[in-house]
Parts: sequence; structure tokens; C-alpha cells
Amino acid sequence: MSAFWGAGLGYRRSLGSAMAALPPGDASIDFIEVAPENWLHVGGAARRLFDAACERWPLACHGLSLSLGGHDPLDMSLLAEIRAFMARYGCSFFSEHLSYCGHNGRFYDLLPLAFTTENVRHTAARIRQTQDFLGQRIAIENTSYYLHAPHSEMDEVDFLNAVAREADCNIHLDVNNIYVNAVNHGHVAPRAFIDRVDLTRVVYLHIAGHDAENPRLLIDTHGEAVQDDVWDVYAYACARLPSHCPTLLERDFNLPPLPELLDEVARIRSIQQGAKSE
Ligand SMILES: [Fe+2]
Repeated sequence: MSAFWGAGLGYRRSLGSAMAALPPGDASIDFIEVAPENWLHVGGAARRLFDAACERWPLACHGLSLSLGGHDPLDMSLLAEIRAFMARYGCSFFSEHLSYCGHNGRFYDLLPLAFTTENVRHTAARIRQTQDFLGQRIAIENTSYYLHAPHSEMDEVDFLNAVAREADCNIHLDVNNIYVNAVNHGHVAPRAFIDRVDLTRVVYLHIAGHDAENPRLLIDTHGEAVQDDVWDVYAYACARLPSHCPTLLERDFNLPPLPELLDEVARIRSIQQGAKSE
């Protein structure tokens, strides 16, 4: 279980100055999250602002390119850099995507896995290898996907549960991804997904906005405010989680002024507190 709680905001370079200007004692953000890959080799003023932010808020690490479901050898040099990065900032939480990033090369994209028993075993083995190397449990995140991999033997929820069970790892639930996949593919309705996922393993949540190309094609852009339907899925999940999970607002593009993001972070906290008092 991660050693922090509450409502967090993804840290981005362009937000660094505005976040640093929040007055001492400001309690609008409980933690921040970054992809370690984006910060391993950054220096200068951006690094100084990031270091100051890490003095102020607990840090969660969310990897982008380990390719846990891939067939290239696990990138142990990247993993060593991630381990050192986490140690430097006293970070106790790491999650990665249940996907892969390429074969004989690497995309900066998350590609969908076929939901097969073979992929359960293969991916779980690589997660165990990662956990052994980092010396801690990690969490795997359900991703959005736009192409349903052929030859699947189970649906996405059963696959996620099976990998987590086989690897004995935690689950990082992204409620926007659940919603986007439900609209785009129609396989598992959002509330059914939450009813079926192994909530005892869920330790962390993401919420984000998406873009509607048309009513039947949503793109997980992280470039819009969170839509009401996704807030409803989030509230449904919070009401059912056996323990309270830190939740991060993802916003990667089309960034509004910081106060608008903090309004959404406050809405996360309000839903968390509502679920806590039920
Ligand atoms: Fe996410």
C-alpha cells in the first residue's frame, strides 16, 4: 500500500512555477505524480522546481515504457534508473501499464495485449521480476485501447485480475480508461467492470478527461476536464473500495490555469470524503 493518501495532481514542467507559488500551508494537493522516464535526465531550472516540489509533496511514480507485456527483454538499465530515482526522492509507489510498447524497438505508445492465458503468465513473470528488482510490490494500470487484440480468451477485467493474482501485485485503476473502453468497445460496462475487478488489490486511482471524436469513439487524451459520466464512475468505485485510495488527476495537454485543475482535485477529495463518511 502506498504511504500517502488523498487527491493528487500530475506534475508537469509547465505547472512548476504556479505550483511553487502556492502559499505555505496550502493543502489543495496531497501528492504529485510523474513518469520517471520524463525526469531521469532533466537539469536546470525545471529540475530545481521539481526537486522543490518533491520536498513539499509526496511523489508517486508512474512508468511509461517498461513494456511489461512485451517480448523484448525487460529493460534492466531503465529499471535500475527508476529504482535510483525512487530512492533519491523517497518514493514508495510505482505503477506501470498493463500493455506493451513495441517489439525490437520502443514506441512512446501503449499497445494492447491479447487477453490470453499465455499473456497472463508471460506478463505476470515480468511483473514479478520487476517487483524483485525494486524490492516492493508494484501496481498495474488498466489502459485505454483502440484496437481489440485478436485471439483473446477472456475479457479485460478477467485478464487484469488474472495477471494481478498470478504476479501477486496491486492494481492501479484508471476510471477514465474504463469508461473510454466501455464506449469504444462495448464489452464491459463501467459499473460492471468495477463490480468485477479485484478491489482488494486496488491501491491507486487515476481520473482524467477524454476527447469525443464522435459519440462512439472517445480518445483518452488527458486534454480536457473530466466529464460528468467519468465522475459518476469514480464515485461508484470510491463507494465500493474496501480501503481509501489516493487518486490522481491526469492532465497532460491543453493545460488550463492551475486553479481550474485544483477545482478538479478538490472534487476528487470531496468524493473521497463522501465515500469515507458512508
Ligand atoms: Fe491513467
